[in-house]
Order: sequence, then structure tokens, then C-alpha cells
Amino acid sequence: MNSPTAAMATSSASCWHLLCERHDLIPFSGVAAWLETSEGPAQVAIFYLPGRKQELYAIDNHDPLSGANVMARGIIGDLDGQPVIASPLYKQHYRLEDGQCLEEVAIKVRTWNVAFDGGSVLIYK
Ligand code: FES
Repeated sequence: MNSPTAAMATSSASCWHLLCERHDLIPFSGVAAWLETSEGPAQVAIFYLPGRKQELYAIDNHDPLSGANVMARGIIGDLDGQPVIASPLYKQHYRLEDGQCLEEVAIKVRTWNVAFDGGSVLIYK
């Protein structure tokens, strides 16, 4: 992933936006934030895994199988070395890297690139 600073310097349709502050995050857990997307307002679930090579992940907070905005409350796990979130309602696992549901191949949630910039958390959209 490009560094936020480098990406901000380029002009394109998408760019880095302030999402929240580092102190809003909960280590090894998820928090939800509002996000304006090109498809309308959404909730994004941000997961902070300190100590991993990639520490931040953002996926849809909306669970497509239950229809509820609950993904940020899911349990973080590791399947075959890949960080996943278990939906708190029906327990399907979603890969944090690309949003793929591991039990239902046709189901995938959106993901965004997120990065720290000092004390801020930026999202690329
Ligand atoms: S300011 Fe660049 S996409 Fe919003």
C-alpha cells in the first residue's frame, strides 16, 4: 500500500480522509465509524491488531447475512495465518484483508485501506 502522505499528493478520484483518531481504536477489537461512500452513507468496522505486519483493517460494519450493523462487535481470529472476523450473529468468518466470507463463497463485504498518520486514522476512498 502506498503511504498516506504519498497518496495524498496525487490527484485522483479517491484519496485519504480522516476517519477517526488512534485513541478511538480498541486493540485487538473493532470499532464502528460513519463513512460517506460513493454508494451513500455506510458504517465501517475498523479493526486494530497491534504488532501484526498489517495493523489496521476496515470492512463493512453491515453483516450481509443478518442485515444488522454488527461486524465491529465480532470476534477476531486467525484462520490459516489470515486475520478474520467472526460475525457476532451467525458466526460466519470474513477475511479482514478482502472481506471474503469463508463459509459462503458468494458473499463478500467491502473493504477499505486504512492507515495511521501520526495520531490520526485515515481511510482511502
Ligand atoms: S476529497 Fe478526495 S475523495 Fe473526498
